[in-house]
Amino acid sequence: LKYYVVTGASRGIGREVVLKLANLGHHVFALARNTAALEQLQEASKNITSITVDLTKSQSIENAVAVISSKAEQLDGLLNNAGVLINKPFLELAENDWQQMLNGNILSAAQLIQKLHPLLKRGSHILNISSMGGFQGSQKFAGLSAYSASKGALAILTEALAEEFKDDQIKVNCLCLGAVQTEMLAEAFPDYHAPLTAVEMGHYVAESLCSLHHIMNGKILPIALTTP
Ligand SMILES: NC(=O)c1ccc[n+]([C@@H]2O[C@H](COP(=O)([O-])OP(=O)(O)OC[C@H]3O[C@@H](n4cnc5c(N)ncnc54)[C@H](OP(=O)(O)O)[C@@H]3O)[C@@H](O)[C@H]2O)c1
Repeated sequence: LKYYVVTGASRGIGREVVLKLANLGHHVFALARNTAALEQLQEASKNITSITVDLTKSQSIENAVAVISSKAEQLDGLLNNAGVLINKPFLELAENDWQQMLNGNILSAAQLIQKLHPLLKRGSHILNISSMGGFQGSQKFAGLSAYSASKGALAILTEALAEEFKDDQIKVNCLCLGAVQTEMLAEAFPDYHAPLTAVEMGHYVAESLCSLHHIMNGKILPIALTTP
């Protein structure tokens, strides 16, 4: 039996990753803030343990890690998929907007990795979900400067940790996703329709979490149909 932790599990891509992993017979700890959505998700499979957590709060992360360690001795993988997006021109960004982006997209993932590290077994995989906006050399979008910068930080953290965790034999990779039709995308770009569904991307991400680390480490991969 393999154990995986997936953040941002209450909706969108994360929710589909959880369902796919559970279907494959793995045990999944599904993390997000929305308890009602998580409880509904947990009903889908006995392989799912939902945990309500606000990843921007250290104490909340510690509580979640305590629940995980009470149910699993070791973890096979961690998917840092939770994220937040503010679409606003750079000159209008308030300090609080920056704090939300940095806390929600990089600091939260870094803290969770630190606190789960003792549970991550040799041969395990940390997969970070960044964005095409956080991929060096890609086309950027006006209004997404803080979001893209915070996602770029997550991509570079990936390379840094792949190096630092070499002796632990923990592999770290990053997927920079293009547009996927989810609530995040619909809220930020109401008139745009993405070429991929959350189910399609969720399946790809689940398979990547289970197997990408067998063939690569410290890689930042662009995963997009449209974005150049
Ligand atoms: N959709 C796209 O086009 C696209 C493109 C590139 C990259 N991405 C990235 O892919 C990931 C998933 O995106 P999505 O489109 O599926 O987004 P989504 O539908 O908005 O889902 C985001 C998830 O993150 C969770 N989350 C946010 N803040 C949290 C916090 N403080 N603590 C715990 N959980 C938190 C949310 O759950 P709660 O609200 O219940 O906490 C939700 O489950 C994100 O990292 C996003 O940046 C998406």
